[in-house]
Amino acid sequence: MSDAASFVPSDGDLDDLRAAARDCHGCDLYRHATQTVFGEGPADAEIVLVGEQPGDQEDRRGHPFVGPAGRLLDRALAEAGIDRGQVYVTNVVKHFKFVERGKRRIHKQPGRTEIVACAPWFDAEMRVVRPRLVVCLGSVAAKAILGQSFRITTQRGQFIPGHEYRVIATAHPSAVLRAPDRAEAYAALVADLKTALGGISSAGE
Ligand code: URA
Ligand code: SF4
Repeated sequence: MSDAASFVPSDGDLDDLRAAARDCHGCDLYRHATQTVFGEGPADAEIVLVGEQPGDQEDRRGHPFVGPAGRLLDRALAEAGIDRGQVYVTNVVKHFKFVERGKRRIHKQPGRTEIVACAPWFDAEMRVVRPRLVVCLGSVAAKAILGQSFRITTQRGQFIPGHEYRVIATAHPSAVLRAPDRAEAYAALVADLKTALGGISSAGE
Protein backbone atom coordinates (compact mmCIF):
# COMPACT_ATOMS: atom_id res chain seq x y z
CA MET A 1 0.00 0.00 0.00
CA SER A 2 1.35 3.43 -0.83
CA ASP A 3 1.54 6.23 1.67
CA ALA A 4 3.04 9.68 2.12
CA ALA A 5 6.34 8.45 3.58
CA SER A 6 8.31 8.62 0.35
CA PHE A 7 7.24 12.25 -0.15
CA VAL A 8 8.23 13.44 3.34
CA PRO A 9 11.70 15.03 3.46
CA SER A 10 13.93 13.45 6.09
CA ASP A 11 14.62 16.83 7.65
CA GLY A 12 13.76 20.48 7.17
CA ASP A 13 11.46 23.05 8.68
CA LEU A 14 7.72 23.52 8.28
CA ASP A 15 8.14 25.45 5.03
CA ASP A 16 10.13 22.56 3.58
CA LEU A 17 7.47 20.08 4.66
CA ARG A 18 4.67 22.27 3.30
CA ALA A 19 6.44 22.64 -0.04
CA ALA A 20 7.00 18.88 -0.33
CA ALA A 21 3.41 18.10 0.65
CA ARG A 22 2.17 20.02 -2.39
CA ASP A 23 3.33 17.15 -4.58
CA CYS A 24 2.17 14.29 -2.38
CA HIS A 25 0.58 11.35 -4.17
CA GLY A 26 0.51 9.12 -1.12
CA CYS A 27 -3.14 8.24 -1.66
CA ASP A 28 -5.72 9.03 -4.34
CA LEU A 29 -7.20 12.13 -2.72
CA TYR A 30 -4.85 14.52 -4.53
CA ARG A 31 -6.53 13.59 -7.82
CA HIS A 32 -9.78 15.48 -7.22
CA ALA A 33 -8.91 18.03 -4.56
CA THR A 34 -7.72 21.53 -5.51
CA GLN A 35 -4.57 21.51 -3.40
CA THR A 36 -2.85 20.14 -0.32
CA VAL A 37 -3.93 21.97 2.83
CA PHE A 38 -0.98 21.73 5.18
CA GLY A 39 -0.88 22.74 8.84
CA GLU A 40 -0.21 26.33 9.80
CA GLY A 41 1.08 28.14 12.84
CA PRO A 42 4.31 28.87 14.68
CA ALA A 43 6.95 26.13 14.72
CA ASP A 44 7.41 26.69 18.45
CA ALA A 45 3.70 26.39 19.28
CA GLU A 46 3.00 24.63 22.57
CA ILE A 47 -0.44 23.53 21.41
CA VAL A 48 -1.40 21.64 18.25
CA LEU A 49 -5.03 21.41 17.15
CA VAL A 50 -5.75 18.59 14.75
CA GLY A 51 -8.94 18.17 12.72
CA GLU A 52 -10.10 15.61 10.21
CA GLN A 53 -9.49 16.94 6.72
CA PRO A 54 -9.91 20.27 4.91
CA GLY A 55 -13.46 21.19 3.93
CA ASP A 56 -14.73 22.86 0.78
CA GLN A 57 -13.49 26.35 1.68
CA GLU A 58 -10.17 25.10 2.98
CA ASP A 59 -9.65 23.18 -0.26
CA ARG A 60 -10.29 26.30 -2.35
CA ARG A 61 -8.23 28.66 -0.19
CA GLY A 62 -5.43 26.35 0.86
CA HIS A 63 -5.57 27.00 4.60
CA PRO A 64 -6.90 24.84 7.47
CA PHE A 65 -10.07 25.76 9.37
CA VAL A 66 -11.02 28.89 7.44
CA GLY A 67 -14.64 27.93 6.60
CA PRO A 68 -17.73 27.85 8.85
CA ALA A 69 -16.19 25.29 11.23
CA GLY A 70 -13.06 27.40 11.44
CA ARG A 71 -15.02 30.51 12.37
CA LEU A 72 -16.75 28.63 15.16
CA LEU A 73 -13.40 27.25 16.29
CA ASP A 74 -11.88 30.76 16.37
CA ARG A 75 -14.68 31.96 18.62
CA ALA A 76 -14.39 28.96 20.94
CA LEU A 77 -10.62 29.33 21.20
CA ALA A 78 -10.91 33.02 22.06
CA GLU A 79 -13.51 32.24 24.69
CA ALA A 80 -11.25 29.57 26.20
CA GLY A 81 -8.38 32.05 26.35
CA ILE A 82 -6.35 30.44 23.57
CA ASP A 83 -4.83 32.71 20.91
CA ARG A 84 -5.20 31.03 17.51
CA GLY A 85 -2.07 32.83 16.36
CA GLN A 86 -0.07 30.91 18.95
CA VAL A 87 -1.30 27.42 18.08
CA TYR A 88 -0.42 25.12 15.21
CA VAL A 89 -3.55 24.01 13.37
CA THR A 90 -3.59 20.98 11.10
CA ASN A 91 -5.59 17.94 9.95
CA VAL A 92 -4.92 14.19 9.96
CA VAL A 93 -5.72 14.09 6.22
CA LYS A 94 -4.45 16.92 4.06
CA HIS A 95 -6.64 16.70 0.98
CA PHE A 96 -10.40 17.27 0.79
CA LYS A 97 -12.45 14.12 0.17
CA PHE A 98 -15.89 14.78 -1.26
CA VAL A 99 -18.71 13.58 -3.45
CA GLU A 100 -20.31 15.86 -6.02
CA ARG A 101 -24.04 16.56 -5.78
CA GLY A 102 -24.87 18.87 -8.63
CA LYS A 103 -22.69 21.90 -8.11
CA ARG A 104 -22.04 21.17 -4.45
CA ARG A 105 -19.16 19.21 -3.07
CA ILE A 106 -20.23 17.23 -0.03
CA HIS A 107 -17.66 16.20 2.59
CA LYS A 108 -16.98 12.48 2.66
CA GLN A 109 -15.30 10.97 5.70
CA PRO A 110 -11.77 9.76 4.96
CA GLY A 111 -11.25 6.01 5.24
CA ARG A 112 -8.56 4.05 7.08
CA THR A 113 -6.45 3.86 3.92
CA GLU A 114 -6.24 7.63 3.54
CA ILE A 115 -5.77 8.28 7.25
CA VAL A 116 -2.91 5.79 7.47
CA ALA A 117 -1.41 7.03 4.19
CA CYS A 118 -1.35 10.64 5.37
CA ALA A 119 -0.02 9.97 8.89
CA PRO A 120 3.66 10.52 7.94
CA TRP A 121 2.86 14.21 7.38
CA PHE A 122 1.37 14.61 10.85
CA ASP A 123 4.32 12.73 12.35
CA ALA A 124 6.71 15.07 10.52
CA GLU A 125 4.81 18.14 11.74
CA MET A 126 5.04 16.82 15.31
CA ARG A 127 8.80 16.25 14.98
CA VAL A 128 9.27 19.91 14.07
CA VAL A 129 6.74 21.54 16.40
CA ARG A 130 7.20 19.21 19.40
CA PRO A 131 4.10 20.53 21.18
CA ARG A 132 3.29 20.03 24.84
CA LEU A 133 -0.37 19.45 24.09
CA VAL A 134 -2.33 18.02 21.16
CA VAL A 135 -6.08 18.68 20.98
CA CYS A 136 -7.94 16.29 18.65
CA LEU A 137 -11.03 17.85 17.11
CA GLY A 138 -13.62 15.14 16.54
CA SER A 139 -13.72 11.39 16.42
CA VAL A 140 -11.79 10.86 13.18
CA ALA A 141 -8.75 12.82 14.42
CA ALA A 142 -9.01 11.27 17.87
CA LYS A 143 -9.08 7.70 16.55
CA ALA A 144 -6.24 8.44 14.16
CA ILE A 145 -4.05 9.59 17.03
CA LEU A 146 -5.37 7.65 20.01
CA GLY A 147 -6.41 4.40 18.34
CA GLN A 148 -9.59 2.86 16.99
CA SER A 149 -11.01 2.05 20.41
CA PHE A 150 -11.17 5.73 21.41
CA ARG A 151 -14.75 6.87 22.08
CA ILE A 152 -15.33 10.60 21.85
CA THR A 153 -18.69 10.43 23.64
CA THR A 154 -17.22 8.99 26.84
CA GLN A 155 -13.57 10.09 26.69
CA ARG A 156 -13.73 13.67 25.47
CA GLY A 157 -12.31 16.33 27.74
CA GLN A 158 -9.93 13.92 29.52
CA PHE A 159 -6.17 13.69 29.14
CA ILE A 160 -5.20 10.36 27.61
CA PRO A 161 -1.93 8.97 28.98
CA GLY A 162 0.78 7.11 27.11
CA HIS A 163 1.79 9.63 24.47
CA GLU A 164 4.85 11.79 24.06
CA TYR A 165 2.72 14.93 24.47
CA ARG A 166 -0.36 15.60 26.56
CA VAL A 167 -3.35 14.72 24.42
CA ILE A 168 -7.05 15.37 24.79
CA ALA A 169 -10.00 15.16 22.40
CA THR A 170 -13.13 17.21 22.02
CA ALA A 171 -16.00 17.56 19.56
CA HIS A 172 -15.40 18.65 16.00
CA PRO A 173 -16.57 22.23 15.40
CA SER A 174 -18.66 20.95 12.45
CA ALA A 175 -20.47 18.64 14.86
CA VAL A 176 -21.22 21.66 17.05
CA LEU A 177 -22.69 23.44 14.00
CA ARG A 178 -24.94 20.42 13.34
CA ALA A 179 -25.91 19.75 16.96
CA PRO A 180 -29.62 19.94 17.83
CA ASP A 181 -28.71 22.10 20.83
CA ARG A 182 -25.96 24.19 19.40
CA ALA A 183 -25.50 26.41 22.46
CA GLU A 184 -24.97 23.40 24.70
CA ALA A 185 -22.58 21.74 22.25
CA TYR A 186 -20.63 24.98 21.89
CA ALA A 187 -20.37 25.41 25.67
CA ALA A 188 -19.05 21.84 25.97
CA LEU A 189 -16.40 22.57 23.31
CA VAL A 190 -15.27 25.70 25.14
CA ALA A 191 -15.17 23.78 28.43
CA ASP A 192 -12.95 21.07 26.90
CA LEU A 193 -10.62 23.70 25.41
CA LYS A 194 -10.32 25.29 28.85
CA THR A 195 -9.52 21.90 30.37
CA ALA A 196 -6.89 21.39 27.67
CA LEU A 197 -5.26 24.74 28.35
CA GLY A 198 -5.39 24.13 32.12
CA GLY A 199 -3.51 20.88 31.56
CA ILE A 200 -0.46 22.62 30.21
CA SER A 201 -0.63 25.69 32.43
CA SER A 202 -0.51 23.44 35.50
CA ALA A 203 2.07 21.02 34.13
CA GLY A 204 5.00 23.17 35.21
CA GLU A 205 8.22 23.46 33.18
N1 URA B 1 -12.84 20.56 9.19
C1 URA B 1 -11.66 20.01 9.52
O1 URA B 1 -11.56 18.96 10.14
N2 URA B 1 -10.56 20.64 9.13
C2 URA B 1 -10.58 21.80 8.47
O2 URA B 1 -9.51 22.30 8.16
C3 URA B 1 -11.84 22.35 8.17
C4 URA B 1 -12.95 21.71 8.53
FE1 SF4 C 1 -0.77 12.72 0.33
FE2 SF4 C 1 -2.32 12.97 2.47
FE3 SF4 C 1 -3.02 14.14 0.21
FE4 SF4 C 1 -3.19 11.50 0.43
S1 SF4 C 1 -4.37 13.03 1.59
S2 SF4 C 1 -2.30 12.62 -1.31
S3 SF4 C 1 -1.38 11.04 1.71
S4 SF4 C 1 -1.23 14.64 1.43
